Amino acid sequence: MKKDNFFITTPIYYPSGVPHMGHAYSSILADVFARFKRIDNFNVCFLTGTDEHGLKIQKAAERNNLEPSVYCEKISKVFRELTTTLNLSNDDFIRTTEKRHSKAVNELWNRLVESGDIYLSKYKGWYSVSDEAYYNSDEIVEKDGKKFSTFSGSQVEWVEEESFFFKLSSWEKKLLEFYEQNDKFILPISRRNEVINFVKSGLKDLSVSRTSFTWGIKVPNNDKHIIYVWLDALTNYLSALNFPNTNHELYKNFWPASLHVIGKDILRFHAIYWPAFLLAANIAPPIRVFSHGWILSGDEKMSKSKGNILNPLEIIDTYGIDELRYYLMKEVSHGSDGSISLKNLEECINSDLANNYGNLCQRVFSFIKNNCESKIIKTLNISYADKKFIEQVNLLTKNLKHDMNNQDLNKYIKSVINISFLTNKYINDEEPWKLKNNNKEKMNNILHIAIEQIAKISILLNPIIPKKTLKVLNALKIDKKSVNLDFLNKKNILSKTLTIGDLDILFKKIS
Ligand code: MSP
Repeated sequence: MKKDNFFITTPIYYPSGVPHMGHAYSSILADVFARFKRIDNFNVCFLTGTDEHGLKIQKAAERNNLEPSVYCEKISKVFRELTTTLNLSNDDFIRTTEKRHSKAVNELWNRLVESGDIYLSKYKGWYSVSDEAYYNSDEIVEKDGKKFSTFSGSQVEWVEEESFFFKLSSWEKKLLEFYEQNDKFILPISRRNEVINFVKSGLKDLSVSRTSFTWGIKVPNNDKHIIYVWLDALTNYLSALNFPNTNHELYKNFWPASLHVIGKDILRFHAIYWPAFLLAANIAPPIRVFSHGWILSGDEKMSKSKGNILNPLEIIDTYGIDELRYYLMKEVSHGSDGSISLKNLEECINSDLANNYGNLCQRVFSFIKNNCESKIIKTLNISYADKKFIEQVNLLTKNLKHDMNNQDLNKYIKSVINISFLTNKYINDEEPWKLKNNNKEKMNNILHIAIEQIAKISILLNPIIPKKTLKVLNALKIDKKSVNLDFLNKKNILSKTLTIGDLDILFKKIS
């Protein structure tokens, strides 16, 4: 059967400092969606990478006394290594300093020139190097003689220079029509409304080249101008697919992108500029932009400039990668901000992973090992209590695909962890240990029903905690190929006669 294609991306990261929890969050979130689509039998392409041009990076290189290219090589490697540490399943890692990328950017630029959407003029206004963004005067506040963006809080500087402009203003109406026709182009809905209001309030033409520094892609046939880093960076989504070779398999299979996962700070670029560039260049815009909230430390966004960073590497060393993945996915989701702390992390590991899912697996596996020589056979028909329990579980699994396809990961996790809770309860209520001597058949049945649920829960949690769930699935002799969602169509996963392997402790309780 031919699989449907799904192209999912993370933002490409500025290699301007060490990776922090915000980066980890954005990447893991996209990874969870990518892994889910794979087990839902999609042909997935998952892209991440580094955004290496522009003044921000040039300045970071200067601070480190390195040539920008040498600096980028070094820090991009750190981000590439992070993909392994976070156990990301990305299929590609793109760097904007690669040849394949500049080729695509040149082509996009030329198309915008050909369509008459680019003209030469002079930019006079505010610019934030930290955001690589232009701001209107009504988005600026003054504090202690310095100017800051009200949107991001970053310091801005006054810029006056010759610049090429993109006719963003002429795309206002078409963008509004596009949002109207594609009502799930921006999720969550609150972000969609924000974007629509911003566009309705009027779009100004966008400066898309700079002349005051050199680190970037030159405007074709013009050595003086460097292409605006956001026009450059956004194009990575196309260059990874071999654009401008639109006959290439990757491009044919995967464009338009199914899902760009991004933080709310870069929503304007993805939801306004990006579709406008693409429409102007006669390229189909992506299907969806999902904008997640921020990881906060106390009340503030976690970021290097604010000095409130929780180091993901230290946390992974102490608690484990699956533990961090689960916590981040449960804590911050569906577009709202989430404050994280070690205390909450530990509570979450104990309540959901150690006491709930972990305990369920451990108690059932060791009971079967100790009382049934690791082998169980299902012979009886299901009882009324079994039926009631299975119905409850079915109710909880009913909307899981829908939740995930709407990026409602909170709801998804809640339902799955609830299945685990119910399975623990089912065992408590059915007390299989009391049947050891007088009704082995019934005991086998109960254990079989419970372990079938363990298999389901493990597959459903696999996109979030891949390492630990694979341990359970291996012990159940479920091979990688069988880790998929086919069981949602009422299929049982396990055979009636079952021999299980050993399972070590999955999650240590933190005291
Ligand atoms: N280089 C641009 C993206 C270009 S995409 C064509 C960029 N890079 S970044 O390194 O600053 O941020 C990468 C991602 O991390 C963004 O989605 C951003 O929202 C996210 N996060 C950075 N700090 C964050 C938090 N504190 N919390 C959650 N995510 C945040 O932007």
